[in-house]
Amino acid sequence: MSATFAALWAEIAPIGRTAGGGYLRYAFSEPELALRDWFRAQAARRELAVTEDGNGNLFAWWGSPWGPGTVLTGSHFDSVPHGGGYDGPLGIVSAFLAVDEMRARGVTPARPLAVAAFVEEEGGRFGVPCLGSRLLTGAITPGKAAALRDRDGVTFSAALGADPVGALDELAHVSAVVELHIEQGKALVDVDAPVGVASAIWPHGRWRMDFTGDGDHAGTTRMADRHDPMLTFAYTVLAANKEARLAGAHATVGRVEAEPNATNAIPSRVRGWLDARAADSATLDRLVEAVVKRAVDRAGRDGTQVNVEAESVSPEVAFDTDLAARLAALLGGVPILPTGAGHDAGVLSGHAPTAMLFVRNPTGVSHAPAEHAPDADCATGVTALATVLEELTCR
Ligand code: GLV
Ligand code: MN
Ligand code: MN
Ligand code: MN
Repeated sequence: MSATFAALWAEIAPIGRTAGGGYLRYAFSEPELALRDWFRAQAARRELAVTEDGNGNLFAWWGSPWGPGTVLTGSHFDSVPHGGGYDGPLGIVSAFLAVDEMRARGVTPARPLAVAAFVEEEGGRFGVPCLGSRLLTGAITPGKAAALRDRDGVTFSAALGADPVGALDELAHVSAVVELHIEQGKALVDVDAPVGVASAIWPHGRWRMDFTGDGDHAGTTRMADRHDPMLTFAYTVLAANKEARLAGAHATVGRVEAEPNATNAIPSRVRGWLDARAADSATLDRLVEAVVKRAVDRAGRDGTQVNVEAESVSPEVAFDTDLAARLAALLGGVPILPTGAGHDAGVLSGHAPTAMLFVRNPTGVSHAPAEHAPDADCATGVTALATVLEELTCR
């Protein structure tokens, strides 16, 4: 199986890889479209019919589309800018290989099985993570999604080539969802296990912070006369870090834009995005409130202004406890662990019993080029996924 995993993985590994070893696989970009073509070819190779849901999500069907008791598996192709190659595609490649393994075992599913490729999971292009699964489940309206714009001003509708259709009634026929994903931390390394089952996803969200002040000359404006939004922004980044540490939570500012972005000009505007996550919603709410308060106080002292808007908030996900325990036992007592990373499975968990399998990541690095899982562990993941899908489609 390891050779088979390696062979299939090798087909997609070069797609969207940059000189630095990371990946640029924005939704509907050339590499992501190539991966969609690859998806269709893999489905055809296995005689799985492909459907689209009108929101950009693809499904390859073993059995009749959206038939009673449908089991969904799969993940996403898109990456964060210069992210790793495993976050997302591992779940899709593993799903096709799990179908092969089930067939090799002589399994005939009693319920339809779909391998899914969800669009724009990272929110790397249009800003809202899990956009495809949010549309499919009705967690975002088609109108709101249609109007989202990328950094070049292209709308989601334009990229999709049509207005998204939103929630699908057929989702009611889904009896279970399983997403396999590379682990994005080192919990499995710590317990020396190649595969684990997810228990929960921390609540998390993205807040856009706009700092405005007075653009002016870097050489002639006295220090005492400045209203520099970069200072308020810098203070806010440090405050977020401090508040997160105090709360046992996570806060990150990984994206920033300055205007006019000139070395010799005091900026007139700085826009930064806060990504905040915590083990429970009350802690997350308190963290964000504390950061906003400190930003506003500091803006008062700097003579600048700050405005903070939530761009997306994902509530806490507790995966189906019975299902997690059942699958962990089925796989021989593998560990059950929570994660701070968001997933389409989290969005879908409100609509059907949902589980996730994690595959060990030796360095724990993710959303960066060093993200990696060994072939042998990926092959173990495929076998585990086949076992789980056999259980869910047949029993
Ligand atoms: C997506 O991978 C996220 O957790 O931000
Ligand atoms: Mn990711
Ligand atoms: Mn992912
Ligand atoms: Mn994710």
